[in-house]
Amino acid sequence: MKGLSNRALFDRLSELGDPVRCRLLLALDAEELTVSEICQVMQLPQSTASRHLRVLVDGGWVTGRRDGTSRRYRGAVDRQPETARELWALVAGALSGSRAAANDRRRLRDVVARRQSRSQEFFSTAAGRWAELRRQLFGQRFETEALVSLLDPEMTIGDLGCGTGELTEILAAGAGRVIAVDESEAMLKAARRRLNGRGNVELRRGRIESLPVADGELDAATLILVLHHLAEPATAIAEATRALAPGGRLLVVDMLPHERDEYRQQMGHVWLGFDPAELSGWLRTAGLSSVRSRPLPTDVDAKGPALFAAVALRGAGGKRRSRKRPQDRKRTRKQETDR
Ligand SMILES: C[S@@+](CC[C@H](N)C(=O)[O-])C[C@H]1O[C@@H](n2cnc3c(N)ncnc32)[C@H](O)[C@@H]1O
Repeated sequence: MKGLSNRALFDRLSELGDPVRCRLLLALDAEELTVSEICQVMQLPQSTASRHLRVLVDGGWVTGRRDGTSRRYRGAVDRQPETARELWALVAGALSGSRAAANDRRRLRDVVARRQSRSQEFFSTAAGRWAELRRQLFGQRFETEALVSLLDPEMTIGDLGCGTGELTEILAAGAGRVIAVDESEAMLKAARRRLNGRGNVELRRGRIESLPVADGELDAATLILVLHHLAEPATAIAEATRALAPGGRLLVVDMLPHERDEYRQQMGHVWLGFDPAELSGWLRTAGLSSVRSRPLPTDVDAKGPALFAAVALRGAGGKRRSRKRPQDRKRTRKQETDR
């Protein structure tokens, strides 16, 4: 190999011997970033980002420059000896196809887009000042709360896997009735406390795979951050479809594919995210149509994997699973209604 002594080669191997550090170099190869932007893209605490950055700067893989009060860093692979460049090409080639790198790229795009909208020029305009002032004065949540006023007050919405009822509470402000279902008594207890006094919310204990909800009882249903807990998400989607009235919509929000294997032990995740194309396939197989799916923008402060939203419609003539017999339905409601 040309350009490096054996000793220098092993130094390079050790500098690139950490997957997080290599992802960082991949990001800096694509874009110049400040430390706080690196933390957002890589979802790392500042101390960890700085530690990896130091190794890359010392090894000559990255250079920094002062920019006003901050420092910006960018990849400097092209200044490395040929052997080091070859080594990096090998690592970068293997790494860039990984889910972690794909998620980094997504967050990198969001960080750069946010930076552009925050540029000096933008903030010197009334529009830029208003965007910031609006956030300071009214916060980030009021739009969501206000937008539910667009819901039809005749609607019944199912919040399936409602957890502690955060979304249920928001939906109940606009919909006529919300049926919130969860299998966990502890979660329902917390939801009951939160929703105390909301006369249009019904909490029902039950499993999503066999919902305590009658055929066509719902005008819309949500499965928010739930499917990754289920062994058979397609079964849950089919069951939610059964509970939808013709013309009803199902909204699924979940994680894009990621590599945080520790979530299995820490939080009981069964799926490490979903490929939206595969999920869209399950929605169609359940008989839903007009399937739309899109990645959701990442929040600067969010530490979790990137999310996507998929929505689908139960057409008037859509395929239906076998209906529950009325006597089964009555028994289910009686046994499982939790109110
Ligand atoms: C991560 S929490 C999300 C809660 C809520 N949707 C939210 O966004 O805050 C997942 C919830 O799904 C519930 N859950 C998991 N598997 C379920 C199943 N098979 N049937 C019903 N609920 C289930 C859990 O009890 C938990 O409350």
